[in-house]
Amino acid sequence: MFSARQLTVSGARNFSSSAATAYKVAVLGAGGGIGQPLSLLMKLNHDVTDLRLYDIRGAPGVGADVSHIDTNSVVKGYGPESDGLSKALKDVDVVLVPAGMPRKPGMTRDDLFNTNASIVRDLAKAIADNAPKALVGIISNPVNSTVPIVAEVFKSKGVYDPKRLFGITTLDTLRANRFIAEVTSSDPTKENVPVVGGHSGVTIVPLISQTSHPDISGETLDKLTHRIQFGGDEVVQAKDGAGSATLSMAQAAARFGSSLLKGLKGESPVEPAYIDSPLYKSEGVDFFASFVTLGKSGVEKVHEVGKVSDYEAKLIETSKETLKGNIAKGVKFVAENP
Ligand code: NAI
Repeated sequence: MFSARQLTVSGARNFSSSAATAYKVAVLGAGGGIGQPLSLLMKLNHDVTDLRLYDIRGAPGVGADVSHIDTNSVVKGYGPESDGLSKALKDVDVVLVPAGMPRKPGMTRDDLFNTNASIVRDLAKAIADNAPKALVGIISNPVNSTVPIVAEVFKSKGVYDPKRLFGITTLDTLRANRFIAEVTSSDPTKENVPVVGGHSGVTIVPLISQTSHPDISGETLDKLTHRIQFGGDEVVQAKDGAGSATLSMAQAAARFGSSLLKGLKGESPVEPAYIDSPLYKSEGVDFFASFVTLGKSGVEKVHEVGKVSDYEAKLIETSKETLKGNIAKGVKFVAENP
């Protein structure tokens, strides 16, 4: 017979459920390719005690399945019937949103706009009504436009707090760490490549000059930069019509979600994120991804882009120009389709 303490120390069980780590998390789109593994990973997170899974299809099944895992959280899956979305969201601390269509070969993320804009708008309305203080992480593409859509909906509902809304760009950093390690034969777990800008093609700007490999140049730099910007296409092509990154994205979103919870606990994790950012607002770019320090109310500090090479400065200019259009498209959508 083990005592609770022995089990906790051995790591086999964690019976402690102190208020400090009793967080409620909702995953919207939990039945999908990202949603399912993300739900699993959030079930394994000891900071979560109440995990709500929502989807228009399949969430009760995913919920029943992961609910049997012997971690400290209760899990429930909700469908759209019986006001399931409101119940899933009621007073949660963190909402992660992987709802919506993924890319097929030949599509850009912007091609998803027409389908995903209205999905994200409607979910944002429900978040505003049921969890107006939650930290919200948007995964649904095109992130460059869906995050402004959520911001506009929150503004219209009078609940917008720019510190609490995030486009999840963590996968770009994961890819950058992995790909630079392949070029330099380094340990990817020791890399932390700053990736700024947005989350699609040319808006993704890796700052290789700020890594411990600033000497990467010429064709090697071109190829590495291109691979980080268009790494998602490798997965879309390999899946051959069956979708885009799901498992690596779930890992990325789980890392980001876990950092949001650490911030709520009073730790100060630093993560990349696409946010309502002061960095280039004076130039008309209202949203921009850079490292941010997370805290009890979301964004605590937006990190400057810092010193960049001429090569990176050009990429940032292209990113900003493209972002302006992507952001305006999201804002216009909500104005025309409230
Ligand atoms: P999927 O098609 O496998 O899953 C999407 C899920 O959303 C489905 O289960 C569907 O029923 C659900 N859904 C649709 N409308 C909904 C609504 N109104 N409310 C709740 N759920 C709804 O797609 P996958 O592969 O999971 O991708 C999801 C999204 O994530 C796509 O837009 C994709 O482009 C994006 N993505 C973002 C990445 C990033 O780095 N931010 C990386 C990879 C994908």
